[in-house]
Amino acid sequence: MSSQVAAMSAEEAAAYIHHGDTVAFSGFTPAGAAKAIPKALAVRARQEHGRGKDFRLRVLTGASSGRCIDEELAAAGAIIWRAPYQTGDSLRKQINRGEVEYVDMHLSHVPQTVGFGFFGRIDVAVVEATEVTADGRVYLTTSIGASPTYLRHAEKVIIEVNRSQSVRLRELADIFIMPPPPHRNAIPLFHPLTRIGWPYAMIDPQKVIAVVETDEPDQVADFAAPDEGSLKIAAHVVEFLLGEMRAGRIPPEFLPLQAGVGNVANAVLAALGEHPDIPPFFMYSEVFQNSMADLMAAGKLQGASATSLTITADKLQQIVDNMDVYGRRIVLRPQEISNHPGVIRRLGVVGMNTAVEVDIYGNVNSSHLLGMDVINGIGGSGEFTRNSHLSLFMTPSIAKSGKISRVVPMCPHIDNNEHSVQIIVTEQGLADLRGLGPLQRAEVMIEKCAHPMYRDYLHRYVREARPGHIRHDLLRCFELHRNLMESGSMLPEVN
Ligand code: COA
Repeated sequence: MSSQVAAMSAEEAAAYIHHGDTVAFSGFTPAGAAKAIPKALAVRARQEHGRGKDFRLRVLTGASSGRCIDEELAAAGAIIWRAPYQTGDSLRKQINRGEVEYVDMHLSHVPQTVGFGFFGRIDVAVVEATEVTADGRVYLTTSIGASPTYLRHAEKVIIEVNRSQSVRLRELADIFIMPPPPHRNAIPLFHPLTRIGWPYAMIDPQKVIAVVETDEPDQVADFAAPDEGSLKIAAHVVEFLLGEMRAGRIPPEFLPLQAGVGNVANAVLAALGEHPDIPPFFMYSEVFQNSMADLMAAGKLQGASATSLTITADKLQQIVDNMDVYGRRIVLRPQEISNHPGVIRRLGVVGMNTAVEVDIYGNVNSSHLLGMDVINGIGGSGEFTRNSHLSLFMTPSIAKSGKISRVVPMCPHIDNNEHSVQIIVTEQGLADLRGLGPLQRAEVMIEKCAHPMYRDYLHRYVREARPGHIRHDLLRCFELHRNLMESGSMLPEVN
């Protein structure tokens, strides 16, 4: 049985949304993102602005989203406030110009933050689905994200029924909503593939004000082939994990892996997949990405838990066509569960994320250039890094042909700190910081991770800094960053 609400055009449905509304869209990455309504809202915003009227929205999604939201809606000047993560060029510029307020936050916190009302009222949820039934069951598509929470808490609901998405995607969904504290029992999830919920999200059917039919597929871009630096980083990671197995700190059946998104993470996953001594493994991660589809097809990845299926159209088709196999190997969960600190700790996840820069003491900046301009946000990196059995960060040692060192005395913004980060890897080598005091960490970081052209500077910095538990010179700790701002290079001699 399908919804009793008659289908209408995206323009008609968008008319229910008003200036100043908080709109919660489905989507975690472009996967499962609302498409038709944000496009119609962008057109509407341009029309209203043309008439001299204000039309701007407070926008929530699961994480980043498709082009329709963080590009088209942003470029139309229709976003005034955004949470919890973004990756859009237009939106990023608006945030860094101070035109849009951006709440950059841990992704597993989003449902609870909504539930307790910290974001205020959610006026409308716009959610992509393959079906909404008359009794209020909503079958989501390629991502779960925070959609079950948005459906539950929004005053009104618009469903985008996307005919290009297979109805069999529901076989991957495992939707479990936690009650508010103090009524929370242990989450009964003891393996990456344990199922604890339902294949659909529930809503009060009275809240559905519009159903819009679309057939636009997710727009997921493929990654470029890994460069030489990424391959070297991947080789260091594989060697390290093999060493951990030999030392008995990773059991013979291996541990579930988490990998951040991007080229370095893809190179690492491919290298793990190719190495004969790495046994077939599971993943407990946030995003199921292309490289994971390849590993699964090759039999190296036995199963994966994630909150989104962020894969190109060919890989998605492969999964849908073989759902009898993949339906038992992939579980899509709400982001509160895919990124849940307690579950990550229980399963003993090996977390592998990417940094913009790291400091000599093991603090990591993943989000803000020069501590000021946001790139994307912290995403799920904090929840995995703080709680994993092993927490790795990867980054090339330099950027812009050496004008930028990505190993610095002090990060001007810290997303993940020295207390959580255990291992840092660049193409130069791997620094295992476990059990080391600050001075020892600095020594290992400089020798193993910094690029040779910055090593002398960093050693001198530590030598000349004020002694203390952590040696720093507060007048010089950002000297490299200041040089970069003033001359375009962290070291004047590197041009
Ligand atoms: N200062 C100034 N610019 C710098 C810099 C620094 N210290 N370090 C890098 N850059 C520049 C790079 O040159 C590049 O610019 P370009 O595109 O003009 O060449 C840009 O900043 C981005 O750096 P790059 O290393 O290419 O980024 P990436 O694609 O590998 O992504 C992160 C790295 C950290 C931005 C990305 O992983 C991220 O957003 N992480 C946070 C969220 C997360 O971890 N999610 C997964 C968790 S589940």
